[in-house]
Amino acid sequence: MSADSGGNVAPAFRLGDTEVGGRLVLAPMSGYNDQPFRRLCRRFGASLVYTGLISSNAIVYGRRALGNARTEHMLQFHSEERPVVCQLFGSVDSMIIEAAQLVEGLGVAAIDINLGCPTPKVAGSGAGASMLRDVGSVARLFAGLTRVLSVPVSGKIRLGLDDDSRNYLEVARAIADNGAALIAVHGRTAVQAYRGSADWQAIAEVRQAVGIPVLASGDVKEPGDVERILSATGCDGVMIGRAAIGNPWIFQGFGRGEVPWAERALVVQEHLEMMLAFHGAHQGVRRFRKHLREYLASSGIPRRERARLLACDDPEQLREGLLGGGIP
Ligand SMILES: Cc1cc2nc3c(=O)[nH]c(=O)nc-3n(C[C@H](O)[C@H](O)[C@H](O)COP(=O)(O)O)c2cc1C
Repeated sequence: MSADSGGNVAPAFRLGDTEVGGRLVLAPMSGYNDQPFRRLCRRFGASLVYTGLISSNAIVYGRRALGNARTEHMLQFHSEERPVVCQLFGSVDSMIIEAAQLVEGLGVAAIDINLGCPTPKVAGSGAGASMLRDVGSVARLFAGLTRVLSVPVSGKIRLGLDDDSRNYLEVARAIADNGAALIAVHGRTAVQAYRGSADWQAIAEVRQAVGIPVLASGDVKEPGDVERILSATGCDGVMIGRAAIGNPWIFQGFGRGEVPWAERALVVQEHLEMMLAFHGAHQGVRRFRKHLREYLASSGIPRRERARLLACDDPEQLREGLLGGGIP
């Protein structure tokens, strides 16, 4: 937050009624942004956190008693992580709207629609980045969502499907003109996936084109990039994705490996405990491994010991190993 001359603290930006207190936002990352990681990032200074994308079909079928325990688990929110944005994907408007109505009662700050995922599973079904094909459909979806929901609605877009269809300004206007409260822009096309560098200039054009808050996403790799992307784009906030995996300290302004390992190890142990408590022993260890790999990369622990820690399936042994006892 910034203080004005009267000492009042101004929010960085608003998301409907929610005053977001800072400019650093945890980007949605499927497979990483579960409840423990979101809580950790909030504690280290992210002012807003996103879930990874969640299937609107799975939510609706789950509530229609066909059952989807995994999705139910994804929808468990904790007071320590709020404000949290829940991201949905889908290809059928009525299902997305029904899912959003089911989620809005869970205390989320906003419901976000994914219009950027390029993976075959998502885009191949007409969801995610495929939605960028048809600006009229995007407009109708957002009009439908904002008509029935009482929580704010937002959209996360890419610049277009490919270099020949960079329609980000039309898409952004369709989202903003139909009642959305915020837009996040990943400055790449779907075909680019994660190749090349993010086009911050294009994100700046979106900021100029719409009258709602815009979050910039793409290539914030170290703390110094935050000011660079904010000044290059004029955006209200910045999303941090890959740079936060294994380094939630980035939200406090620390680059990878800058916090002494002894201090980080305590947080890594706590992260493991949160994962075990939330996912259970088997899934907890399995899901923690992806984070652990990134934590360990800058730990100074010898490669063979790191490999042993990463191969460990047993929570008790992993605990011991992280406490410094090594893995037998
Ligand atoms: C492992 C992974 C999972 C992702 N999952 C999602 C997702 O579920 N929804 C979404 O909108 N973007 C997703 N993204 C894209 C990120 O939100 C972000 O826009 C992109 O990684 C660029 O930002 P970065 O350079 O800070 O990582 C994902 C990215 C990664 C690396």
